[in-house]
Amino acid sequence: MRFLRRVQRWSRLGCGATAVAALIMASATASAQEDFSYGRRLYLDKAQCSYCHGWAGNGAGDGQSNGGAANLRQTRLNRAQLIIVIQCGRPGTAMPHFDESAYSDKPCYGMNEAEVGTRKPALPPGSTLQPREVEAVADYLLGKFVGRGAITRAECEESFGKDARACGEYGVKP
Ligand code: HEC
Repeated sequence: MRFLRRVQRWSRLGCGATAVAALIMASATASAQEDFSYGRRLYLDKAQCSYCHGWAGNGAGDGQSNGGAANLRQTRLNRAQLIIVIQCGRPGTAMPHFDESAYSDKPCYGMNEAEVGTRKPALPPGSTLQPREVEAVADYLLGKFVGRGAITRAECEESFGKDARACGEYGVKP
């Protein structure tokens, strides 16, 4: 009898541990998805990266933008390099700097304000970003764009809602 009770206790403990593990996994998955919707909001709304790079990152931005924005689906930059480009912009190009203190308080690519001179990237059309927001955008690029081929309908619906009319032009499969 004593042995049986002990087994029961163990199995209760075992079940508990499994439930806890399942909970941890579920919340990890949920927070990963949240991170992407946060990153997406920053990309589309707050920072307006989409104005130049397009909602899907393929470089097809608004007709009013300067054009020539990189196709982020094909970038070869890693996370650390993406973060630097977003914070510092690209000197001499239309890629803005999203860190407010880039070049002034924080040198970029080893250059301060005087050294970058007239090649200093512009301030963004939308808002500048805090370091953790830059990280969330970089993770969004890596999670949703980098290395993806053609834009899919599923991807469009994820950004604009299920059955969004404009998504009809994209194939169901890549
Ligand atoms: C005003 C237009 C504009 C906006 C807004 C803009 N970009 Fe860019 N971006 C560019 C241009 C133009 C380039 C190409 C620069 C070059 O020729 O090196 C570029 C390049 C990049 C690159 C380098 C890609 C590579 O492989 O070299 C990254 C990464 C990038 N942009 C991310 C972003 C993100 C993320 C945002 C929003 C937080 C953003 N950009 C907002 C115009 C823009």
